[in-house]
Amino acid sequence: MTSSEDALANSTSDASLARSKARSAEIDRAIDENPSRFRILTGDRPTGHLHLGHYFGTLRNRVLLQERGVQTWVLIADYQVITDRDGVGPIRERVLALIADYIAVGIDPERSVIFNHSAIPALNQLMLPFLSLVTESELHRNPTVKAELEASDGRAMSGLMLTYPVHQAADILFCKANLVPVGQDQLPHLEQARLIAQRFDKRYGRANPDRPVFPRPEALLSEVPLLLGTDGTKMSKSRGNTIELGMSADETAKILKKAKTDAERRITFDPANRPEVSNLLMLASLSTGRAPEEIADEIGDRGAGALKAFVTESLNEMFAPMRARRAELLANEDYLWSVLRAGDEKANAQADETLDEVRTAMQMDY
Ligand code: TRP
Repeated sequence: MTSSEDALANSTSDASLARSKARSAEIDRAIDENPSRFRILTGDRPTGHLHLGHYFGTLRNRVLLQERGVQTWVLIADYQVITDRDGVGPIRERVLALIADYIAVGIDPERSVIFNHSAIPALNQLMLPFLSLVTESELHRNPTVKAELEASDGRAMSGLMLTYPVHQAADILFCKANLVPVGQDQLPHLEQARLIAQRFDKRYGRANPDRPVFPRPEALLSEVPLLLGTDGTKMSKSRGNTIELGMSADETAKILKKAKTDAERRITFDPANRPEVSNLLMLASLSTGRAPEEIADEIGDRGAGALKAFVTESLNEMFAPMRARRAELLANEDYLWSVLRAGDEKANAQADETLDEVRTAMQMDY
């Protein structure tokens, strides 16, 4: 057994990644046997509009899990917006759009819980005991926090940024989620959440060692396709190189028309040598369910123009019903707020219950 600190540092090592992958395959089979044993917690920061990177990377997967019968909790992580920003921005509009996006892609508010940080006081209160269970140096060593710091261009890091893995642990543990669908980069956070759960029970749970207060949440690693932006660089909203779910068919066509390709006319799928063309083929593949090589063959010598037309058409066709639903939803703000209120009510009931258990374990229930 490695020490817990080593476990955190090692959680991104190759061996540990292989273990996480094998475990994810096992969990996948267990979901088929008994989906209701699992509760997932996932979320997004309301910092902009969702785009096709989010859709193919996580949203689609959440909907699949929901359809398989897993309890699905989706967090609008509004307090996380201010980890690295001075203000919340046009948050009302962004939260509304996020709720509309969720429902439009197939998250069903009747079966899944959509809620937001700032409406759940007891979730945030868990931060206090949890912070007592981590060390400052452990937080400084967290690879994601480190990466954020490096990306911040020398600006000072806020205490909230330093401690956001702890807040994220509260997100996961308050609702006793035992499964978190993540990309590889999020594995250290999950390790941190597991450590907090473990340390809490070790320190306070002695009265009843057979019934831990918290589950040990596990990662469900999904095969996330590595998608680039339409200019061949990392996809991000600020670069204007992505296609948002809410864009029109025309806007989609316009962005794809400007997409970067290369000088070779014949279309082939070759991610290492032809990243831009291959990325367009990936998009075509994801939106049609066909193999990228097969699409490349079909387009053959007709060149980048034909490829772009193909991608535009298949993406627009795939997103058309979601976009129509999204527009309908956005025209009914009252409904969108009612979905959030109902989710918040459920989340509050759960958070209050968990906080009571925590207080009892800590003998602070006087
Ligand atoms: N950090 C996530 C993001 O970048 C959002 C998030 C907040 C989250 N809390 C979480 C994801 C807990 C998974 C589990 O959007």
